[in-house]
Amino acid sequence: MSNTKNCRVCNNPIEPFMSFGRMPLGNGFRNPNNMSKEYKYEMKVAVCSQCSTFQLIEQPSPEKMFHEEYAFFSGTSIRMQNHFADFSKDILNEIGNDDPFVVEIGSNDGILIGNFAEKGLRHLGIEPSSNVAEVSRKKGINTKVSFFSKKISEEIVDQNGAANAIIAANVICHIPTINDIAEGVSNLLVDDGIFVFEEPYLGDVLDKTTYDQIYDEHVFLFSLNSVNQIFDRVGMEIFRAQRQWTHGGSMRYWISRKGKRAIDESVHKLLENESNQRILETETFIKFKRQCEDQKYKLRSILEDLRAKDKRVVGYGATSKSTTILNYCGIGPEHIEFISDTTPIKQGTVTPGSNIPVRPYSEFQNNYPDYALLFAYNHSKEIMQKESNFEINGGKWIVYVPEVKII
Ligand code: SAM
Ligand code: TMP
Ligand code: ZN
Repeated sequence: MSNTKNCRVCNNPIEPFMSFGRMPLGNGFRNPNNMSKEYKYEMKVAVCSQCSTFQLIEQPSPEKMFHEEYAFFSGTSIRMQNHFADFSKDILNEIGNDDPFVVEIGSNDGILIGNFAEKGLRHLGIEPSSNVAEVSRKKGINTKVSFFSKKISEEIVDQNGAANAIIAANVICHIPTINDIAEGVSNLLVDDGIFVFEEPYLGDVLDKTTYDQIYDEHVFLFSLNSVNQIFDRVGMEIFRAQRQWTHGGSMRYWISRKGKRAIDESVHKLLENESNQRILETETFIKFKRQCEDQKYKLRSILEDLRAKDKRVVGYGATSKSTTILNYCGIGPEHIEFISDTTPIKQGTVTPGSNIPVRPYSEFQNNYPDYALLFAYNHSKEIMQKESNFEINGGKWIVYVPEVKII
């Protein structure tokens, strides 16, 4: 457990502005036949007044979250597969095809780095969760089962040489030792190399009140402002920023050593947006807290109302994010019959803290409920397209992003 009174980036003292209460692990799905005491921590959040980094006060240890039974497999969404294929093309456009060496941090089942492996390019995925790493190895992708760190970067340089590009998606915000990661990145890159990573974007979380992006794995929620300050410490800077539709609103940061690349207009624009959005001001987070409480009240009211009317409600997508929603809003099996999910390792388990059964997709498809609560809203385009029959049969969706409503 890392429990801090000081900012993980700049060591300035930090104070929480909000607590979501005691929380289990976001991906801590449990076997209903083995319900030993569940691990919990208090989910408090703070924003550093000096470097603007949004962070958890307490975070469970990495080994508790990432291990041989990690429940999240990246390859479950077709749209994400396409997204990562495009990401790999953007990287090659930037660094060229002349025998590059590409390293991915948090490569999971190989959904991104696999695109380089397929082209026969030099590549390496770094992935500590051995079960997902094994899936990637079986596809012929070079994968090192390890947490990335400065020390690991030194080993890679010794064994494979320096990298032309380091890439990452939805993982840098997971790593509490962020300054060590920045040093490792700088150490591993060739002089004109690039580090490109994407993550859920704090600006979107504030805009859409997607507070479910806050859970144990996400020790940080980044803005361009905070990322710039983190990499400034190792002589690097953001030269491009690109919005992404993924995970309900993400940002892709392109980083190089200072002065190596022209700073794109997108960086100036985003800095201006963040200033207009008052992303650095205390008032913004007090308002965010009120919006979270309001959303909780509305979602609970809808579910209580449907329960009183004896309607069947099923959840769609047992996401790690939904752990925050379910536990913060006090939603349980009395509100939701089960949650449908296509990930085999999650099926037959119950959700962390809230104990709602997770069942295979066939149970949703073969017996449509009256209402489906869409937890996997970040895949809503893909899901709405394939679930038109549910609506034709009179089913209704309950959504909570960007606002709580029945559609
Ligand atoms: N990159 C994939 C994607 O976007 O779908 C996977 C994202 S998943 C939420 C985060 C992954 O990062 C997990 O597979 C986890 O095991 C891995 N991870 C966590 N900490 C890490 C670290 N310090 N170094 C490398 N990978 C890490
Ligand atoms: P994510 O929001 O972290 O990507 O997780 C999405 C979860 O939703 C994952 O457990 C797989 C599940 N899922 C389905 O059950 N059906 C679907 O059609 C999609 C796209 C995801
Ligand atoms: Zn700070």
